[in-house]
Amino acid sequence: MSLKLAAQLSQIHGLGDVEALVRSRLASDAPLLTQISDYLLALGGKRIRPMLALISAKALGLSAPSQELLQVAAGIELIHMATLLHDDIIDRSPIRRHKESAFIRYGTDSTLLTGDFLLVRAFALCAHLDRVIIDATERACVELVEGEILEVPLHLQLHCVDSSITVARKKTAALFRLAAFCGAHLTAKGPQCSEAMGRFGENLGVAFQIVDDILDVTSSEDILGKKTGLDIIERKPSLVNVLWLNSGSSLALRLREKPADAADEEQFRVKALSELNQSRVIEEAKALARSYTQEASLALDQAISCASSHDPRAYELLKALVNYAIERVA
Ligand code: FPP
Ligand code: MG
Repeated sequence: MSLKLAAQLSQIHGLGDVEALVRSRLASDAPLLTQISDYLLALGGKRIRPMLALISAKALGLSAPSQELLQVAAGIELIHMATLLHDDIIDRSPIRRHKESAFIRYGTDSTLLTGDFLLVRAFALCAHLDRVIIDATERACVELVEGEILEVPLHLQLHCVDSSITVARKKTAALFRLAAFCGAHLTAKGPQCSEAMGRFGENLGVAFQIVDDILDVTSSEDILGKKTGLDIIERKPSLVNVLWLNSGSSLALRLREKPADAADEEQFRVKALSELNQSRVIEEAKALARSYTQEASLALDQAISCASSHDPRAYELLKALVNYAIERVA
């Protein structure tokens, strides 16, 4: 992320309040729940979902974030935190953001329960909000779970480009859509406007996930904060893996086999990374990601044109986020 964009994003009005609101929900009679939640929060992260909610509302003319908007943004971040705890257990990912994953440090049972705790805290924070937000949140959370369960490894089920995109749409883009949709909804510019902003968030989320899949192959452990090639080892139906299989590579056929012993898998990971980085697969995946950022830009313009007034600086910031989604390196 460019320094200029990072500086602009860090100054978004309300982001500090969202962070404080999230923190205020981590208290519990069982100190371990707070400790694990604090640990995850301290790992950092881009806070892109709350940012999306806040900037979407601002772009549509909301001058200062309302209490409801701050609660929605914090609720979405709490849900996101819960999914990360659960996802690392499911993926058996030992490292997140350069540090031990929570379940490695605190154990699976406590980490699973902390995810449950964060989810309930999120729902309590937002339960009084209007029906449209509650329904949209239910839909997004169901999609998160569907996305995760549809992510059946490539050695167990056939996946194609469409099913890989469906997984990305559900497991990642659903919360992006929710954030942008709720931000727009709370400006009361009408359903057409909030639906368009939701589509903006969703397409941005799909692009974001595709780039995540690409970085798993093209980035480095130092930058990524975890080992590269994990999607390969885990036989994930990531877009890169599916395109690699479609490319006719004989090495890729190993994605259809059950993971072997650790030494063999390590050799496969290294060979796969080398082949993929010289193949056309990455460019193909990038082109698809770009098509989703184009859809996102179109939807953003639709949302802005539905509204009677808008904030040009916030609009530019959303466009910069679209650009960042495709250009980012971490
Ligand atoms: C990360 O994908 C995973 C997600 C964004 C979604 C996880 C969803 C669940 C665990 C379902 C549970 C749902 C609720 C509501 C608690 P990734 O593994 O590709 O990314 P990573 O590299 O960040 O781990
Ligand atoms: Mg994961």
